[in-house]
Parts: sequence; structure tokens; C-alpha cells
Amino acid sequence: MAATWMQRISPGKARLLTGGRGDAAFVCTVGVQRQPVSVAHHPASVAHHPATLTAPHRAVHSLSSSSSSRLHRFFSPPPSRALSSGPVSAPEEKMSDNVRVSPWAKVLTIDTMNPTVKKVEYAVRGPIVQRAVQIEKELREGVKKPFDEVIKANIGDAHAMGQQPITFFRQVLALCSYPELLNDNTFPEDAKSRARRILQSCGGSSLGSYSASQGIDCVLQDVARYIERRDGGVPCNPDNIYLTTGASDGIMTMLKLLVCGEDEGRTGVMISIPQYPLYSAALAELGAVQINYYLNEEKCWSMDISELQRSLEEARTHCNPRAICIINPGNPTGQVQSRECIEDVIRFAAKERLLLMADEVYQDNVYAEGCQFHSFKKVLFEMGPEYSDSVELVSFHSTSKCYMGECGFRGGYMEIVNMDPEVKAQLTKLVSVRLCPPVPGQALMDLVERTATLSALAEKAKLTAEILNTVPGISCNPVQGAMYSFPNISIPKAAIEEAAEMDQAPDMFYCMRLLEETGICLVPGSGFGQKDGTYHFRMTILPPMDKLKVLLTKVKEFHEKFTNQYS
Ligand SMILES: Cc1ncc(COP(=O)(O)O)c(C=O)c1O
Repeated sequence: MAATWMQRISPGKARLLTGGRGDAAFVCTVGVQRQPVSVAHHPASVAHHPATLTAPHRAVHSLSSSSSSRLHRFFSPPPSRALSSGPVSAPEEKMSDNVRVSPWAKVLTIDTMNPTVKKVEYAVRGPIVQRAVQIEKELREGVKKPFDEVIKANIGDAHAMGQQPITFFRQVLALCSYPELLNDNTFPEDAKSRARRILQSCGGSSLGSYSASQGIDCVLQDVARYIERRDGGVPCNPDNIYLTTGASDGIMTMLKLLVCGEDEGRTGVMISIPQYPLYSAALAELGAVQINYYLNEEKCWSMDISELQRSLEEARTHCNPRAICIINPGNPTGQVQSRECIEDVIRFAAKERLLLMADEVYQDNVYAEGCQFHSFKKVLFEMGPEYSDSVELVSFHSTSKCYMGECGFRGGYMEIVNMDPEVKAQLTKLVSVRLCPPVPGQALMDLVERTATLSALAEKAKLTAEILNTVPGISCNPVQGAMYSFPNISIPKAAIEEAAEMDQAPDMFYCMRLLEETGICLVPGSGFGQKDGTYHFRMTILPPMDKLKVLLTKVKEFHEKFTNQYS
């Protein structure tokens, strides 16, 4: 075989080496990374070069040469590149009079890596969270702090916050994973028949086989039936469903399909501000143009068509806007868009020839009285053929949110409407490159159905806005849906100046101080985007009620103290 594997060895951890010539025998242990190396490029490497090895590597070499005949070769030169940054000194190759490049310098450096990746930011797991993890470690080590525990309200991960999985879902997954349990009388018949149905649709009746790239057939059918019930009978063709690795994967796939062009012809994508940072991150990674439209905080984060028009017209001067993304119910802003608003957005998309991307992962997280979730698909079809026959829509859902909260299984789907058949064929090809989404996540998606109410979350949503609105300097819209509140906070001028000296956004400075002084971990609004001169934080409403009350009280006390200190 043309390529074999060379291994980067952590001293003291390695036990073997090699493979090659069709012999894929890796006897590797923890701490060993494999790197493919072309034999053709390193003919000399077939020989042993013990003299070039550092001590631990020599130990490995002697072990490999005295071991079984399967461990037959050890590729070494160029040694320092191959084996570690150990004490072997690398001679330099003269490239020109002024530039010397070591032949063993790294191929991938911060200057030579893909620049679009460096532009990616994801606040939800950013510096505040890293510091929170460090503080938790310090607390375990006995470091004294003004608090005993870190309360994390930074991420919408329901199970991590104590939400219990729904028994039926886990029973079906257990049965699918270990079909022997189908003979176990303690499992209920409805879970067994669901598991049998899923397994019959899996290759070799095993959850461990790849599925079709679009997803397991019976799951596609069940998801389509679910959508029809949800949308009061609007038809859904299973062939328009693609199962995904969480909604994130579907969103990224659609953006990949969409983004192209150069300079002024580069694809632009309209996203709400504040936004869920997956969107800005994905657009940065793809080198697309991010077009911001601002949600109206004064009107409970609603969408305003005149603002959409403004942002679109401005964007048309420097890029080619081709899609608009809407998150409903909203993250981080927790609003539920009205039916009228959705109709307006559909008309706008039709008029401006924009593809609609409807992120509806929080569709069952609706709490406020008078608010109701309306799917874009249903509204589109109820607006009649003028729209339903032409507007291109992709909507996304996930197993991660709502009553499921099963983020770790990475289940999701997207439904495409009015996609050009040739593009659809390209989409099918694109998703086939990653073979298939995780099959256990697909099995879980099969179970999507409203099975529980979210009354505990509704209570927490109400309490959060109520308490925050009692604090002078904090104002919070009602949390109508999703899992977050995004209150507006006033930050005194002196604090803004101190933040600037530390090269921090004012709300990052605020949240970092909050974390250090109280152990409360929130995410600064700047990570989601906000109007210039306004400051926010995002908090989930997921912590258990007793912790949520502690959290809100601490935020209240902190805000008062912080304001006094800097006023
Ligand atoms: C609005 C929104 N879209 C998509 C996602 C990603 O969800 P998934 O876990 O299904 O990838 C999230 C996760 O928090 C989200 O809030």
C-alpha cells in the first residue's frame, strides 16, 4: 500500500509501531496519534534509524524490533518531524538568501492554517465557560471562594441541568441497542414494537450498521407523519426529510449548498441579531457574508419588515443576499413570533427571492399565555399556491430541545420544500459523503412526538422575568418560549472604561466579575450580537427551581453591588 502509518509517540506510553503493505496491524496504546506518511516520499524511511531517536523513542524501537514479526518496520526520517519535538535538532534548509525554512517545520501553523477557521467564534463555550470549569476545579482542590458551587446557566443542555430522560425513549433505545432485551418481560410492549419497527429498517437489524444517507426509511416516514399531524394535515413527503446530526449539521449542510461567488457576488445570508452563534460561526467558516437584521427589543424581540428591508438593501451594495434565517422560538431572545409576523416574512422572502431557513428546534418550548408556535411550513401552505408552490423553505428540528432534551444523541432532521430537483440530488450526494447521521440519534428522532407538557419550564420562565425586572438597571422581556432570557443590563461608564483597559467587551467584563464573585456562569450578550451601546447577558432557565432562585438572587445582589461600585 502506498501509505503507511507513522506514529507520534508520547514518552512512556507507546508500545509498538507500524502497519503498511496491507498489514493494518496497529498495536497502539493511549497517547499515540497516527499520521499517514507516503512511503514513496520517504524511501529511506524503511530502514531503522535508531541513532536518530531520542531516548524514549529508542526504547520503543528496541521493543518493536524484538517484538513479533508483525511489528516489522519503523519509519523514522525525517526523525524530528516524525517522532516528536524532542531534543533532535533539525538542520535548516536554505531557501533563499534571506529566508530559511526548516525542512521539519510544521506544515500547519497558525499562519498557514485555514483563515476562515480562525474567524469562527462560539460564545456559548467561550472564555467564561472555560474559566467556570477552572473555578470548579479550584473549588474541588479546596481553594476558598465567596461561594461553594458554580451554577451554570450558559448552555441549553437540559439533562446536564437535571432534566430526567423520558423513560419510553430510553426503553426503545435500550431495546434497539441490545435486542436480547426484547425477551425481557419488564419492558412494555409499546416500546418493544417500536424498537422492532426501527430494527427491521436497520441494515442487519442492527443499530450498529450505517443507514441510508438520508436516514432510516421508517424514521423518515414517521417524521413525515409527525409533521403532518403538527401542521393540521398539510402533506409531508418523507422524501423531503433528511435526518441530521442535530440541527447544527442540517444548518451547516444547507449553508454549504448555498454559499458561492466572489466579491460582490459572494453569497450573503440574513441572520437575526441577537443570534445563536452557530450561524455567525458557520458563515465565517464558509467565508459567506453575514447580513445582520436587528430584532426589536422594545416589541419583545419581534421581527420588523422595515428592518429586514433596510438590512437587505444595504447588503445588496456589497454581496448577493440569497437566504434569510429565522429562529422561532428565539435563541437567545426567547420570543415566539406571531402568525402575522411569519406571513410577513414569507411575503418578504417571496418578493426578494430569498430562501427561507426556519430554525424551529424550540417548537414545543412555548410558555407564555396567548403565544402559540406556528411552523413556517404550515403558514406557507395556508397562504395558498402563490407562495406554497414557489417559496423555497428548509426547516430544522432536533432531539436536543423541548421535552426530549437529548442533546448527546445528536438527532435532528430538516424538511425541504420547493427545492429544485437537481439541487436536491446534489444535497443527497453531499450528505452521502458523511455516510449517515448517528443511527441511535435517528432512532430517537423516530420518537419525536409531543408526549409531555413543559409546565416546570413555564414556571421558571415566568419567575426569571419577574425577578430580573425587580432589579433597577435590568430589564427583561417576557420569556415566551425556548429556554433563555436575554435581559438588557445597564453598565456604568466607569465599568465600561475599566473593561476597555482590559480589552474586554463591557458585558464580558460584567459576566466575568459575576462568575468570580458569585459562581454564576452566564454568557455575555456580545457573543450573540446586540445593538451598539446596549448590553445583555443570556441565561438559560433550565437549572432546577431551587438553584434558579439562588441564581436570580445572586444576579440581583451582584448587579446592585456592581452598579454602586462604578457609579
Ligand atoms: C436555535 C438553535 N439552533 C440549533 C441548535 C443546535 O441544536 P442541535 O443540538 O440539534 O445541533 C441550537 C442549540 O442550542 C439552537 O439553540
